[in-house]
Amino acid sequence: MQRAQWSSRLGFILATAGSAIGLGNVWRFPYLAGQNGGGTFLLLYLICVFGLGYFLLLAKLAFGRLAHTNIIDGFQVSAQKNGKTIGSSWGKFTGFLTITNTFLVSSIYVIVIGWTLFYFYNAGTHLFGFTTAMPDTNVFNLLTMSFSRQLFWGCSCIIITCFVLIRGVKKGIEKISLYLMPVLFVLLLFMAFRMLIIPNAVKGLSFYLIPNWSMIGFTEQGFDLKLFSDVLLKAMGQAIYSLSLGLGTVFIYGSYLSNKENLVKSTKWIVILDTFVAFVSGLIILPAVFAFNLTPETGPTLTFVTLPTVFSQISFGLFFMFLFFALLFIAALTSLISIYEPTVNLISEKLKLNRQKTVWLVGGINLLGTAGILLSFTNKIPLKINGKDLFSATDELTGSYTMAIMVCFCTLFMGYIISDALVKNLQEGLTEKLSPIFTKHLKLTLQFIAPLVLLFLFINALIS
Ligand code: ALA
Repeated sequence: MQRAQWSSRLGFILATAGSAIGLGNVWRFPYLAGQNGGGTFLLLYLICVFGLGYFLLLAKLAFGRLAHTNIIDGFQVSAQKNGKTIGSSWGKFTGFLTITNTFLVSSIYVIVIGWTLFYFYNAGTHLFGFTTAMPDTNVFNLLTMSFSRQLFWGCSCIIITCFVLIRGVKKGIEKISLYLMPVLFVLLLFMAFRMLIIPNAVKGLSFYLIPNWSMIGFTEQGFDLKLFSDVLLKAMGQAIYSLSLGLGTVFIYGSYLSNKENLVKSTKWIVILDTFVAFVSGLIILPAVFAFNLTPETGPTLTFVTLPTVFSQISFGLFFMFLFFALLFIAALTSLISIYEPTVNLISEKLKLNRQKTVWLVGGINLLGTAGILLSFTNKIPLKINGKDLFSATDELTGSYTMAIMVCFCTLFMGYIISDALVKNLQEGLTEKLSPIFTKHLKLTLQFIAPLVLLFLFINALIS
């Protein structure tokens, strides 16, 4: 069977940006910035994204394009193309990590995207006069206490995702990205404009844009290494999460790409779009929260409790709430689609199962994972890990550890086994020669900088 391919450069860029831009940008990034010093977190995040994330994304896309196959076989195939022979355990281990990460991340994802769809529906029905119940802060408590309501909204999101994926790469993933991503950018800018003209937004703006060095350990008493590496780990974890680096998605989207594509340029666009959306989401949320003297440190509930309080106090708040949750839903949907795709591709290619059946199988497993986490989250089965419910524990585990382990493993492979073939592959779509400084820096990042940074952060996290 012929392997699927993107039909246009724009389609590829928007689909990959659609994967990158998700809950990570609009929900996770603002609350992490709110908890970790605003401007300081933003600065560390930008350093992680442009100093490491860009190169990792570029290499991973080239790795996928070099392999042109599923993630398990991709390791042996690309090593062979570089004249090396490796055992099948590399691929099997990564296949295992891909499926584990897909399962864990999508289970959390579906819960949050379900909340989003619920808020969108709730704001919409009120806005269009179908109900008189104004969404207020109590709505979130009621929603998160109910197992069945959360499962219903989550399940609805899984069904929508499956219907898109069944249509395949070109007609499903690419087409929906071509329609939805421009809508997302327009909504984002419109929302930012509205939220920034709220009186007293300046205080929050300075929190978000001006670094507070003491928040990352540069205090008058001296340098606090633990605090610094804690925040750095969160920023690095967020960069990996946001660029979809630890999920197999980037590899698989690269594997659908033609060799004629200028990957260096396209990757720049993807990183710029992803970072832009995270940055503007911070602008939408943080200054508004400060303007009403609310606290930005509430964590995951910032978007679902604190922000609706803001909407309830501004003019046309309900309308903007409706738009905001539409924006968040679009961002999350295109990412959830991409989180499924590597596993769908893997199972259908390795087990020779048809795509439709595979998609429903992955959706079904995702639903089971979601239900399991919800049982702990709603206290029906009060299972806790380290004092945390399964929702928080899984979010932390994937955001800071399992995805980073996958990135570290793939980076070592790309740096030491296939780096020459990767550089040749990158060169293929370019008219001029890659500069030697660029290729040297890319190899250095893959072989030393990225693995060392990740290792340092792991050790620090384990010790603390
Ligand atoms: N990259 C996706 C996000 O940011 C997973 O939500």
